[in-house]
Amino acid sequence: MKLFLDTANVEEIRQGVQWGLVDGVTTNPSLAAKEKGTGFETIVKQILKETPGPVSIEVVATDYEGMMEQALRISRLGDNAVVKIPMTLEGLRATKTLKSKGIAVNCTLIFNPVQALLAAKSGAEYVSPFVGRLDDIGEDGMSIIEQIKTIFTNYDIETKILVASIRNPLHVLRSAIMGADVVTIPFDVLKKLPSHPKTDEGLVRFLSDWKKIFPDGRFPL
Ligand code: G3P
Repeated sequence: MKLFLDTANVEEIRQGVQWGLVDGVTTNPSLAAKEKGTGFETIVKQILKETPGPVSIEVVATDYEGMMEQALRISRLGDNAVVKIPMTLEGLRATKTLKSKGIAVNCTLIFNPVQALLAAKSGAEYVSPFVGRLDDIGEDGMSIIEQIKTIFTNYDIETKILVASIRNPLHVLRSAIMGADVVTIPFDVLKKLPSHPKTDEGLVRFLSDWKKIFPDGRFPL
């Protein structure tokens, strides 16, 4: 399962790449706004350069012609640029055209499995179901991942399931068990993934036992 960072913050991406935990990045207009949106062109170019994989950048037009115009501009920014298109009829139409031009689309704002099926049939490279926002309204977001996985397996659909709106490590675990292709994770959740209290406790004990042999902490090998 690939790990993408769900951020438009270049420092977070740099840090994640150093840890070897970033296969790609997803951005959206809300994440762009957090980085003081006006310099977004520079930020996007930097993100595309520093990310060792696909970077999703979202259109903000809602009509077919506008989406196409913005999508073509996005795709020219770099070989790893993926165009994020919202799940609407106009978006599906744009996805189909972009597929015919060899441009990868990440279909976003997916909240049920039929939307995912439609996006796949239109040629999307990725579908982005928002699990956290479903949890927020009292639904089990992860259950749609299971259903999308079943549908895609039934019909040998190659569109990748990119689990979005991740809120906690349990979302990541359940995505992996269900066989999702990608999870896109906020930086604070990424940092939590390697942690376990027994790991911390074990490390403290190892280091204090070592000091019983070498009180100065020396490593004499
Ligand atoms: O990238 C889209 C998605 O991950 C948004 O997440 O936390 O705003 O629901 P959130």
